[in-house]
Order: sequence, then structure tokens, then C-alpha cells
Amino acid sequence: MTMNNDVPQDKSLDNSLALYQEGYQFIQNRMEKYQSDLFEARLLGQNAVCISGEEAAELFYNTELFRREGAVPKRIQKSLFGVGGVQTLDGKQHDHRKKLFLSMMTPLEEKKLGELVLEKWTERLDQWELAEHIVLFDEAKEVLCRTVCQWAGVPLKEAEVAERADDFASMVDAFGAVGPRHWKGRRARTKAEEWVGSLIEDVRTGKLSAREGTPLHTIAFHKDLNGERLDTHTAAVELINVLRPTVVISVFITFEALALHEHPQYRTRLTTDEEREAFVQEVRRYYPFGPFLGARVKKDFTWRECDFKEGQLVLLDIYGTNHDEKEWEEPAQFRPERFQEGARSLFNFIPQGGGDPTTGHRCPGEGITVEMMKATLDFLVNQIEYEVPEQDLSFSLVKMPTLPASGFMMSQIRRKA
Ligand code: HEM
Repeated sequence: MTMNNDVPQDKSLDNSLALYQEGYQFIQNRMEKYQSDLFEARLLGQNAVCISGEEAAELFYNTELFRREGAVPKRIQKSLFGVGGVQTLDGKQHDHRKKLFLSMMTPLEEKKLGELVLEKWTERLDQWELAEHIVLFDEAKEVLCRTVCQWAGVPLKEAEVAERADDFASMVDAFGAVGPRHWKGRRARTKAEEWVGSLIEDVRTGKLSAREGTPLHTIAFHKDLNGERLDTHTAAVELINVLRPTVVISVFITFEALALHEHPQYRTRLTTDEEREAFVQEVRRYYPFGPFLGARVKKDFTWRECDFKEGQLVLLDIYGTNHDEKEWEEPAQFRPERFQEGARSLFNFIPQGGGDPTTGHRCPGEGITVEMMKATLDFLVNQIEYEVPEQDLSFSLVKMPTLPASGFMMSQIRRKA
């Protein structure tokens, strides 16, 4: 380890156990203990410098100083991300692949997805009105899976929806786990890569037609920097990089319903697009999802009297940055108004990464996430009425990723007159 005398060292043989015991608050707890915005620790068998806060995020997204190659453990690539995807690329290769994603996620396409998800929610109402209760998380996974596959040009039979949606969710569920949850995610990825890989091949050979402009068509015929099409596996990984995270917006949607339930005073204050957007942003800030991000030091430098050495693993705290007292007034309060008061910057609000998505690794799907969450909020508030029966709505800050225990049950659902 770089022994930096003035930098707090979390002195244990390996902190991995503490990480699994403290989850989302692992980094923040130590920042508070050491009154610092960085410390060194041994995690998952290697040394890491953990950093948190707006300035730390700005540093982390400096591509002169950091690279992604070698930063994502193989076990995460084989479950969550896939091998060879945009997340692990750097420099020109990353810029070129990132343009592919951004070309599919224009404001017009984002709006289309918002409209489509509203349509898909509405289609569920006949069945919901007859059901004793529904579990919103389970419904959301399926609704989002139907929505994103239709938009992406991916054929999906109704009988496949539940299984495919579950597989996408399992890949994400695997990131914070060892043992059965991890292996379930790996199996789900293998299955999805086979399925999506064969769709890519069928489109390329003309056996399956895909409309120009759909992600299936765009990715199948995308040419890499070498002028060649992506190999089938990489193309499948990248199409899954569109489908999987969109299905998993279901986590934020479940928290959105919880926020509405716990703060019912906002129900009458969601009439304008601006108000709905502020509410959605506060859901993305307040509730935990991605815990932290990893990168490796590209060349030696010093920051806050800490020497960062080439190859060193650095972890940026997402949850702690979104709850940083220096940046957010009363961060533990759920207060959407803060987003109407201009509280955000490219680096202090990082639920889907920080900086500029065109030049760095920031998530290209934020617009899709916000549009789908706004449409769903409108649906929950303005289009239906429902009861929230007695249930366990608590969520763990230790389990990663987390969710309200009951998945958010709703009963007596009916259309608003
Ligand atoms: C629940 C909503 C979502 C969350 C919490 C989320 C979170 C994130 C985070 C934390 C990153 C990493 C940023 C970094 O490495 O610096 C990321 C990257 C990425 N996200 Fe999302 N995301 C979400 C939705 C989406 C959607 C809807 C899509 C696509 C339709 C998407 C596609 C991607 C891709 C392709 C990357 C890799 C970008 C790169 O490496 O340049 N995400 N996301």
C-alpha cells in the first residue's frame, strides 16, 4: 500500500467483512470517524483509497489521472456488466463506444420511453382492479421489460416476460453478493447473452428484421474503431447494457412509491413537470442504489497530501456523496424542493455517476431513468387510487442492492374518475 503518513489508514487485515456488514455506509462511516474525505483500506484482497464528496468526484472523473481498465473485478463483469462492455474501456475506444449509446438516447427517444411506459402501466389496470393486492416491484420489472424490449426492437413473447425480467434483475442483484445470489446472476447473464446474441446474429443475416433506429438494429450494425462490426458477444453485452439497467429502474420506482407513501403531503404538489422532476431527483439522491465506483490511477499524482501511485485502486463513494453534509442541507431529510433551489452540480449529485457523459463514464441512461420515473409518478398520483396495506416497508442499508422488504404492496387499486 502507498503508506501515506497523514492519510487515515483503516487498519485491518482486510475490510471486506466490514464492507458486507456496513454496506452503503461503509465509506461514510470511516470518513466521519477520521474526519477526512479520504482513507486507505484493504478491500477484496487489495489496497484501495476511498474518496468521497464533490471535489473527490471531480478528481475521479479526470481521465488524465484515472483509467477503468482493470478496475472492475472479473466477478462483477461476469455477472453485472458483461466482459468487454463500455464500462471497462478507456480513451478513444471508450469515446467511440459511448457515442453509440448516446446516439440511441436522444431527448426524443427518452420522451418516447416515458410515453410508452405510461401506456404499459395502464394496460395492467384491468388485472390490478381484480387482484387482492399487487407487489409493485414485481410488476415494475415486467412493465419495464415489456417497455424497453418494444422500444429496443427486441421481440419478446408475453410468456417470456417474467423470466427475462427476473434475469435482468438477478444480474444487478449479484453485485453486492457472494454465494448463491452471485451465481444466480452469473447464470442469468449467460442465458441472456445467448438469447440476445442469437437475436443480433439473426438481424445480421436478415432472418429477423429490425427497424432502423432501434437499439437492436443500431448495435447489430455498429462499427468499432477498426471499421468492423462488434463480435456477437460484445454486441450482446452492449444491448444488454441497454435492457438490463432499464428494467432495473424498477428499484427506483419502488422507492418512488415508498417516498409518496411516507411523504403524502407532496401528492398535491406534483402538478407541474418541474415539481415531478424535483421529486424524482430527490428519490434518486435520497435512496440507496449504486454504492461506489472503482477506477485505477493512470499516473502518479498527489491530492490532499495523499500520494496516488500508478495502478492504485480508488473507490468513489456514491451514497456518501449524495448525502454529504457539506453539499446538502439536512441530507437525511427527504426534501424535493432542494432541486428547485438549484442544489445540484455535475459532481455533487452522482446517483448514476458524475461529470460529463460524453467524455467520461457517467451513465448515458439518466434521461431515460428520469422520464420513466416521472411518467410512473404521474400514473401513481393522477391516474389511480390505491391503499397501502400493512407490510414491512423497511429497507436495509447493509444489503446491496437494497429494496423495501415487501417490494411495496398495493391493494384496492382503481382508476381515478
Ligand atoms: C436505475 C437506474 C440507473 C442507475 C442507478 C444507473 C447507474 C449507473 C452508474 C452508477 C454508472 C457508472 C458511472 C461510472 O462508471 O462512472 C452507470 C453507467 C452506465 N449506465 Fe446506468 N444507471 C441506470 C440506468 C441506466 C439506463 C436506463 C441505461 C441505458 C438505457 C444505462 C446504461 C448505462 C451504461 C451503458 C453505462 C456505462 C457508461 C460508460 O461506461 O461510459 N443506465 N449507470
